Amino acid sequence: MPFQKGFLWGGATAANQCEGAYDADGRGLANVDVIPGGPERRLVTSGKRKMLSFEDGYFYPAKQGIDLYHHYQEDIALFAEMGFSVYRMSIAWTRIFPQGDEEEPNRAGIAFYRRIFEECRKYGIEPLVTITHFDCPIHLIEKYGGWRSRKMIGFYQKLVRTLFTEYKGLVRYWLTFNEINVLFHLPFMGAGIVFEEGEDVYRTEHTAAHHELVASAWAVKIGHETDPENKIGCMLAAGTIYPATCRPEDVLAAQKENHRNYMMIDVQSNGTYPNYILKEYERNGFPIPWEEGDREILKEGTVDFISFSYYSNRTVSAEEGQDPDKNSIFSGTRNPYLKASDWGWITDPTGLRTTMNDLYDRYRKPLFIVENGLGAKDTVNPDGSIDDDYRIEYLREHIRQMKTAVEEDGVELWGYTTWGPIDLVAASTGEMSKRYGFIYVDLDDHGNGTMKRSRKKSFFWYQKVIRSNGEDLD
Ligand code: BG6
Repeated sequence: MPFQKGFLWGGATAANQCEGAYDADGRGLANVDVIPGGPERRLVTSGKRKMLSFEDGYFYPAKQGIDLYHHYQEDIALFAEMGFSVYRMSIAWTRIFPQGDEEEPNRAGIAFYRRIFEECRKYGIEPLVTITHFDCPIHLIEKYGGWRSRKMIGFYQKLVRTLFTEYKGLVRYWLTFNEINVLFHLPFMGAGIVFEEGEDVYRTEHTAAHHELVASAWAVKIGHETDPENKIGCMLAAGTIYPATCRPEDVLAAQKENHRNYMMIDVQSNGTYPNYILKEYERNGFPIPWEEGDREILKEGTVDFISFSYYSNRTVSAEEGQDPDKNSIFSGTRNPYLKASDWGWITDPTGLRTTMNDLYDRYRKPLFIVENGLGAKDTVNPDGSIDDDYRIEYLREHIRQMKTAVEEDGVELWGYTTWGPIDLVAASTGEMSKRYGFIYVDLDDHGNGTMKRSRKKSFFWYQKVIRSNGEDLD
């Protein structure tokens, strides 16, 4: 049996993509609330178009999400029915600190997550909590400029201290920042940054990166001090990057691109900046904004495990701009050997095994796959059933590779959570029709529908996978 007893099987969500109830019980406004669906979404998430409040003529999908806020009992019961032993979810920062810089937390927000965790525990489900999944209070963006400000570290410390104290004994697995490397691709989502006219983008992004790294290290230290049982991980948008050909220049280009991707978690796992980025900073005349104690805390606050999302991977060539892959937020060229999903995301199960090996070789720490899945359109049959064989096929092939990485390559893996076990709002497009779930939610891209939940074919398939601890994938 490749997976040890106690291997954690489950699914993952993010507060802003499912909770809705954006202003319930004292919750404050966050960047994720004011990101509209539609063509301007990318401009906003990348910090190029300033939108810090709701504007007329736009649809904001996070306002209602799938209303998990009011459906959580029903939803967690369905997760339990599938046999989940872990549920990865995130905290909405603005439910706990509505403005971000208050002295006292919002008790109603704390009570909400306590109810969620207790509900999970009722079924023996281990919560795995992402402290920030792309969210940042609007007030902190308006007043301090988001993560470009050093002050954010203090606000984040307060948030994590509150969470670790309040949920001691209820939560043991934590992630500090979701897909921390996304900061360099979608800075408004990753760091609450809206660029000013003429601003030095490189400098701002890397300053924010340092602040997030120091904040993450503090979270690890505070978490361990509060409860030595806490296991605290980093989270990478992963996928080993391939060279377009075996031409040495392409291989080198791929290595450089991999460095760029690993940079943040190299610091989170090793406690120091790697030389390749220090040299780049030297060349670019960027001084890391070190302050007293930063070097020590980075060393003290190294993560216990490496978590990552894996959907697809990239291919790069030394020739810039060659046959670009337009469907990705990352740069890269098309890979002729691999097919893409309806949204243009490359599908490569073997790449999951390669990625697991690369991460394990690099860090020698346990891994946790916290996102994997296929975003696809579903059709509801007249009798209400949904035959999502394409989703089953995608997951089956990835789980096979994950098994091989464990069984044959000896990679240490703690668990696997598929992305969006229940349909939710897509982060990149804001659509509901890009569905990942085992559970269908009756809601369209404009927010219309009954929100009724129903089981897809994949629901019963995943139930079987979990019951057999990954043995029965048919
Ligand atoms: C990851 C994010 O990037 O990919 C999730 O952590 C996101 O928030 C997921 O939902 C899938 O992307 P999308 O755009 O299909 O929702």
